[in-house]
Amino acid sequence: MTKHIVVMPGDGIGPEVVAQATQVLRVAAGKAGLPIALSEAIIGGGAYDRTGSPLPEQSLDAARKADAVLLGAVGGPKWDTLAFNLRPERGLLRLRAELDLFANLRPAAIYGDLVDASTLKREVVEGTDLMVIRELTGGIYFGEPRGPVQTAHGAGARNTMVYSEWEVERIMRVGFDIARKRRGRLCSVDKANVLEVSVMWRRIAEQVHKAHPDIVLEHLYVDNAAMQLIRSPRQFDTIVTGNLFGDILSDAAAMLTGSIGMLPSASIGERHALYEPVHGSAPDIAGQDKANPLATILSVGMMFRYTFNLPQVDEAIQAAVTDVLATHRTPDIHAAGKTLVGCREIGELVARRLADAPPIAVPAV
Ligand code: IPM
Ligand code: MG
Repeated sequence: MTKHIVVMPGDGIGPEVVAQATQVLRVAAGKAGLPIALSEAIIGGGAYDRTGSPLPEQSLDAARKADAVLLGAVGGPKWDTLAFNLRPERGLLRLRAELDLFANLRPAAIYGDLVDASTLKREVVEGTDLMVIRELTGGIYFGEPRGPVQTAHGAGARNTMVYSEWEVERIMRVGFDIARKRRGRLCSVDKANVLEVSVMWRRIAEQVHKAHPDIVLEHLYVDNAAMQLIRSPRQFDTIVTGNLFGDILSDAAAMLTGSIGMLPSASIGERHALYEPVHGSAPDIAGQDKANPLATILSVGMMFRYTFNLPQVDEAIQAAVTDVLATHRTPDIHAAGKTLVGCREIGELVARRLADAPPIAVPAV
């Protein structure tokens, strides 16, 4: 019954935020009576330095055998000049592909009075609560052919945006299922006025909709969706989109919540799951105890919800985060009247708040 979790701290601020998240993970598991076993594996630039590969076979193997993976972040200027397939990001992309983590869930909601930390006006962002579902193992990120080409006018480079119908179908099903658990509205984002891939995407969305008539489906072009997200984010419930559009829209959605340091994510496939913050490795603040670990902590909450089927633990973690934010802030979300704290201290505060919270009622299995 013990759940095996592989922890991949990665580069930059990864190790700092993951340290706080694993602390919260242990407290949460203890409260829920869930036996867990953690082990560490390397990924990213650090892994390249030690083994010559950004995703050593041993790490991939460990991830394959785990019930869930918790990842920090990868990348940094030190590795920016490496050959393309050795770069830290390739390690993460390969991990997503090898584990077939096709559905990436990125919820953007505002915690407590963080509404004033957004760069947008309070009346615009207040009440925002949306979920971006990003297809994660296809599209232009993985399409072939790719790489350098000779064009009629000299050297160039190319990537290919390609989706199979079944790939769109399975991400749509996730979209409708999640929309049903939320407010019953699904917005499919594409570029069907320009791209054939998107025309097919839209057709499959309509087709899958027939099996989910209780859900309201609408379509937006990605440029309009970007504008609408900033203009009136409350109109969105669940968004489903392809790999590249989802990458871009989820960063935009993150800023609605005040800081990209707040956005968790779950990457889910048929057999595996990986949890990681949406933010990157932030090398400029690495090792200075300035990072915001809340996105990683909230990713642990998503692990309880989606892998361990214990949404009540996710809710308890979210409540602890909301409580702590009422009084304490990391630099990225600091506001007048709040105590400025570092990565370690805010992590400890959340862990303590969770430990002190009422017991979490977990149904016996
Ligand atoms: C993300 C990141 C990654 C992506 C990078 C680090 C490869 O931006 O998870 O959104 O583009 O998917
Ligand atoms: Mg991104």
